Amino acid sequence: MLNWIASPGTALRGEVRVPGDKSVSHRAIMLASLAEGSSPIEGFLEGEDTLATAAAFAAMGVRIEAPGPGRRLVHGVGLAGLRAPGGPLDCGNAGTAMRLLTGLLAGQSFDTELVGDASLSRRPMGRVIEPLARMGARIEAGDGGLPPLWVRGGRRLRGIEYATPVASAQVKSALLLAGLYAEGETVVREPHPTRDYTERMLAALGYPVRYREGEARLHGGGRLQARAIAVPADFSSAAFLLVAATLVPGSDLLLREVGVHPRRTGLLRVLERMGAAVELLHPRALGGEPVADLRVRHARLRGIDVPVEWVPDMIDEFPALFVAAACAHGCTCIRGAQELRVKESDRIGVMARALSALGVRIEETPDGALIEGGALRGGRVDSHGDHRVAMSLAVAGQRAAGGVEILDCAAVATSFPGFDRLAREVGFGLAVASGQAGKA
Ligand code: S3P
Repeated sequence: MLNWIASPGTALRGEVRVPGDKSVSHRAIMLASLAEGSSPIEGFLEGEDTLATAAAFAAMGVRIEAPGPGRRLVHGVGLAGLRAPGGPLDCGNAGTAMRLLTGLLAGQSFDTELVGDASLSRRPMGRVIEPLARMGARIEAGDGGLPPLWVRGGRRLRGIEYATPVASAQVKSALLLAGLYAEGETVVREPHPTRDYTERMLAALGYPVRYREGEARLHGGGRLQARAIAVPADFSSAAFLLVAATLVPGSDLLLREVGVHPRRTGLLRVLERMGAAVELLHPRALGGEPVADLRVRHARLRGIDVPVEWVPDMIDEFPALFVAAACAHGCTCIRGAQELRVKESDRIGVMARALSALGVRIEETPDGALIEGGALRGGRVDSHGDHRVAMSLAVAGQRAAGGVEILDCAAVATSFPGFDRLAREVGFGLAVASGQAGKA
């Protein structure tokens, strides 16, 4: 078991580029694999989640070269070119890999089995299985719609119109990928618009797709053409450093080339309302995605009511926000975030327990929490193998009066390999300690 000890370091300073965007990296491998020709990818996330996606496509006959760190050259096989893998495809910890692959594999001529680690094996898959079945797919799951999944090939899919009950880019993307293989039109509508990377990358690779906020539609039977793909730095990884630099007095940090897609940057709006000092410098486009350099300086935060309509735009940033709220003046109220209960861990329960152990007054609700800001003490906390919880608790440690021992941090390598080294470089107090498995 990999544990960390986080404690106050120095003011956070310097200029860094966090690793590539996870959502974009998954889609780059998937769509480049299905394209005709060879697509070079720059800025690819060398994380366990996206490496699992690359390994899955390699197992289905796609040649993927790695000419250097963050670089891939994907020799696409065309929409009909995938081959049956020799065994189950292991998605590891990656919900995006499993849900998007389920849609894509529903349209193949061969059967596949999708498996994942203990955390992924607890995550609901009915949200993709049910609409894909309406398209004509045959997918079997374990009890309660949980992985492993068996996706039957050789099915004739037909396009459907589907209104997703939850705002989920993974569900939307799974249906669009199945739609590539379906007769007729596939239309997906969402209760709140989510990240549109699948739609944008399909369009960039020449596939006819129509989309606007909250709705995407495409017909099956088109083709994808290879092209160069540039991946911005991941806003969700930058979020830990944004919050840390806000909380640590004297900090002044520059995060380079961060993706600032409006469907991802709800945390910026929340932090701004809480009183944070974040500047977006040199806004520009990188491979069609909006990016900017983010300059963040220390500021005193005040608690707020987080607007419910902003929740989908910051769905991965709540563990970091819990920590910001715990250090703010006054109470922060989070509602409408019940999706957090089915992420890599139950992020409401896990963060509430960890912050309580550090002396924070926090009341858990079914769909959020009430967090009273105050002083943090040291203690022993459990990340439950959730990468974003572990990194958020490392941020909490920068403001705790004693050391914070964080259990079970190895999953950080799924999304932010090298986090502890980079964090130390900018000023974190963060030591790695391999310890015994044990309860916090
Ligand atoms: C993702 C969508 C979100 C997000 C996840 C990545 C994606 O999940 O939490 O980290 O790449 O499409 P949901 O679709 O479950 O909201």
